[in-house]
Amino acid sequence: MVFHVPVMATEVVAGLVGDPQGVYVDATAGGGGHSRAILRQLGPQGRLVALDRDPEAVAQVQRELQDQRVAVVCGRFGELVQILARQGVSEVDGLLFDLGVSSHQIDRASRGFSYQQEGPLDMRMEPGVGMSAAELIEQSSAEELARLLAEGGEERRARAIARAICQAPSMRTTGELRRAVESTRPRHLPKTLARVFQALRIAVNGELDQLGRGLEAGIAMLRPGGRLGVIAYHSLEDRLVKKTFAPLIRGCTCPPEVVLCICGGQARFRKVATQTKRASTAEVGQNRRARSASLRLYEKTGS
Ligand SMILES: C[S@@+](CC[C@H](N)C(=O)[O-])C[C@H]1O[C@@H](n2cnc3c(N)ncnc32)[C@H](O)[C@@H]1O
Repeated sequence: MVFHVPVMATEVVAGLVGDPQGVYVDATAGGGGHSRAILRQLGPQGRLVALDRDPEAVAQVQRELQDQRVAVVCGRFGELVQILARQGVSEVDGLLFDLGVSSHQIDRASRGFSYQQEGPLDMRMEPGVGMSAAELIEQSSAEELARLLAEGGEERRARAIARAICQAPSMRTTGELRRAVESTRPRHLPKTLARVFQALRIAVNGELDQLGRGLEAGIAMLRPGGRLGVIAYHSLEDRLVKKTFAPLIRGCTCPPEVVLCICGGQARFRKVATQTKRASTAEVGQNRRARSASLRLYEKTGS
């Protein structure tokens, strides 16, 4: 089974790799597809740090990319500064975040990410570390669960679904969660299941907190002229990325009624393209995962 097919690999490499002898970070190595594509563009002095929090991904990339220009590291992008410091890296030329989970993680029933397969209700990207989805549900009240579903899944019927989950006699498997959601008779079952599973996955893995910290580290560590790319798969991720970069692109922090800038704030970043990049129809035809992907690229212009 294919571990993961990288999304928009050509666009990522074209947008990210400026200096072939530079230092690059693939913060979400997964099956190593983007790492491999980046590596193909690098010269003999180029370096790549490939990072993933999932030990199975790290083992896969270590097997796939045996190249002295690459360091494969297990860790979270929330700890990027310390991880890169241990690699002797204090500045980078390019950094990629390809968010969410890999096909390998979704396809393995034992990881509990998929509503289409029966498995333990786990959803941890780092197996055995922190609370599983089943434990999170067990420790949450119906109100807390409803908030989590509304925030992480933008689910409008969050209260009814949370009540059904809390009233279920057992909530240890993906099947039990699926049946609890089904019992609320949603109008569009697959979409509702996708939102509920997404919300739980985001909460279990602290994904938005990780993204915020990863972006902050990337912004600080990029060299002027360096680029940061993010592939997002849902609006929560995409909104957080836009919100983080908006003030850095604007620079000026004067209120809108001030006609001439008095704050003197300088832009630190620019958008590489005015439009968010989407996968081509041909790519979506070959890889359904690509249909919801949006790529944003930013270049550091100041320090
Ligand atoms: C969409 S996949 C990346 C696929 C990869 N670009 C490829 O070409 O195969 C996302 C990966 O990011 C990892 N990941 C998600 N959040 C992370 C975090 N906070 N720190 C490190 N890795 C993370 C997941 O474990 C998963 O393997």
